[in-house]
Amino acid sequence: VETISLARGVPAPECLPAEDLAECARAVVERDGEAVLNYGPAGGYGPLREWVAERHGVAAGRVIITNGSLQGFVFLAGALAPRGPILVEAPTYDRPLRLLDGLGAEVFALRVDEGGLEVDLLEVVLRQGLRPAFLYTIPTFQNPTGRTLDAERRRRLVQLAAHYGLLIVEDDPYGLVRFEGPVMPTLFELAGAEQVVYASSFSKTVAPGLRVGYLVLPEALVADVETAAASTYITPSLLPQATLFEYLRLGCLRPNLDRTCRLLRERRDALLAALAGELPEGRWSRPAGGYFLWLELPGGVLVADVVARASSAGVAFVPGTDFFPPGAGGENALRLAYSFASPRELAEGAVRLGAAVRGGTLRRAA
Ligand SMILES: Cc1ncc(COP(=O)(O)O)c(C=O)c1O
Repeated sequence: VETISLARGVPAPECLPAEDLAECARAVVERDGEAVLNYGPAGGYGPLREWVAERHGVAAGRVIITNGSLQGFVFLAGALAPRGPILVEAPTYDRPLRLLDGLGAEVFALRVDEGGLEVDLLEVVLRQGLRPAFLYTIPTFQNPTGRTLDAERRRRLVQLAAHYGLLIVEDDPYGLVRFEGPVMPTLFELAGAEQVVYASSFSKTVAPGLRVGYLVLPEALVADVETAAASTYITPSLLPQATLFEYLRLGCLRPNLDRTCRLLRERRDALLAALAGELPEGRWSRPAGGYFLWLELPGGVLVADVVARASSAGVAFVPGTDFFPPGAGGENALRLAYSFASPRELAEGAVRLGAAVRGGTLRRAA
């Protein structure tokens, strides 16, 4: 059987606005080829920096556009990691965890529950005297859980950050990929640009192959990040940035978001319905947006046991342990991405997953 992948956070092909982007790419090369085909500023294509700056109410000099937002995280973490330990959510996006490990950073993980990051735990460690270089958080439609930090915790988090001088790195690639529910203010909106680095991306709102992400930085960090960008790639890829700017300028973002959110919502609904039928004894998050849901296995079943059976059954997912520092959790959980597979494949994927879960000897995690 062909494997159904619920593993990677990749958009379905029909989410990608290929024709519109082709027209935009041609238009910018014809109109502004001399600039976009040459070296340019390390911080990115000027008009796009201004577009992002206006959207977030800051000066364009505080915006650095990077080749994907993960690259921005690499620059930022490189600049900040020497300043102290780093706080992350548990579970959290696996790539930053590995990057921080590679930098030799000391990482402290704070639990996430149904309401997002447990801000009480943050208060405890700050009160005990921990002074982290920064807190890395994904407050909206988190990768990997799909959960969202609730309004009250957002306010408290921002208050704590101001009180203890904590820098927050808010990673928000999914905020606009909303299917329902009220729009939450970002931490950046609540706290302002001095307390929060805001990171986002056009990977989930337009196309990941563009590799366009950005940071909105406190004044004091701009030079460090810009220097890291210049010494990594001199100039980021300007053609995708200019193509994207043209796409935004023509007003294509909102209709594209409406279309992709509809496609993704159908997929989320298909997966939720199938799980209810196939794994009634499990528990999972019910994301109001984004790409992922988090599934807790029933009765102490270990994800390590399910992986191999799932692979033979023809379904792939990412084990929960990948989203925690080593040994810190995730043994009874897994992440399912509903962004790529079709509704029909999602339903079949849930059948195969249910069989893989039930086929195991049930034993308690240590
Ligand atoms: C939370 C989070 N941050 C950042 C990224 C990376 O995005 P980009 O494609 O802009 O590098 C992802 C991609 O899956 C993500 O889930």
